[in-house]
Amino acid sequence: MTTEDHCFPALLTFFLQELAAILMSILIQSVPVLDQYHPNDLALEEALDTLDPLRHFFKSLDETDSSPNSKADALIPSQPLPTVKEIVQLSFGTHPFRSPISISLAVDASPGCGGIAWPAGQVLAEYIAGLGPEFVKGKTVLELGSGTGLVGLIGAALGAGAVWITDQAPLLDIMSHNVLLNKLTSNVTVSELNWGEPLTDAIPHRPDLILAADCVYYEPTFPLLVQTLSDLVNDEKTEVLFCYKKRRKADKRFFILLKKKFTWAEVMDSPGREVYSREQISLIRLVKRQYA
Ligand SMILES: C[S@@+](CC[C@H](N)C(=O)[O-])C[C@H]1O[C@@H](n2cnc3c(N)ncnc32)[C@H](O)[C@@H]1O
Repeated sequence: MTTEDHCFPALLTFFLQELAAILMSILIQSVPVLDQYHPNDLALEEALDTLDPLRHFFKSLDETDSSPNSKADALIPSQPLPTVKEIVQLSFGTHPFRSPISISLAVDASPGCGGIAWPAGQVLAEYIAGLGPEFVKGKTVLELGSGTGLVGLIGAALGAGAVWITDQAPLLDIMSHNVLLNKLTSNVTVSELNWGEPLTDAIPHRPDLILAADCVYYEPTFPLLVQTLSDLVNDEKTEVLFCYKKRRKADKRFFILLKKKFTWAEVMDSPGREVYSREQISLIRLVKRQYA
């Protein structure tokens, strides 16, 4: 390999970093707060996302950053990122007569952003746990973009008939580890499911309940996720609980695509609704349009 072969990627990286820095300084000067975006700023945001898709991820980690949009624009929950595996104990389901469901969760940011428990996932976990065993009894449940597997594991711990927790290949190990940790191997299957790809025999094609939490954050995946949801939902018998945290104006584009295939309504019987809606989190139930 010649010196030029080594230098070219370094020069390209340097050039892209410089370009990103220039674009970022223009953005910072022109957009003081998130709510004042102009369509051109959105285009600039997207150009920056293309150069560095992970650039939003670390914004909330600097607690000293008090700039107006630092928290609102951040993609990960404001918790220190564990880069090596650690096990956290979480408990869900506040109820006067039932014990909460306790889950031991291995978290590890190294396989990807899904390796930690995201806020909308915790909201969905709490909602399902609060509904109790009757809600999942005998049901086939499929979770999309499971990350650690938390939401699906709650369904399994409640006693669902069979649960599939799915994600991309790098997350499968941590999900399997969490299934073992919680002794849920009898009713949980871990499967690879890449949104937008044809459904495989590794997952049920007609689940009774589909769960998805914090899956709206990266624009190139928006049409893929809508496609998979549409492929999985055949009629109104499939219930879809979809929890998301609004972070950027670009998220609206996901809902423009979703609207072509689904209608939705906010889940109103969730006890935590008033609190989590202040965090820009919404829990909705999707219904497929009849001729979509
Ligand atoms: C922000 S994390 C949320 C994880 C988990 N649901 C939670 O709430 O903690 C988004 C998840 O979507 C998964 N994901 C992203 N793009 C995907 C794709 N094209 N196909 C399947 N999963 C994808 C990521 O790997 C990640 O686990």
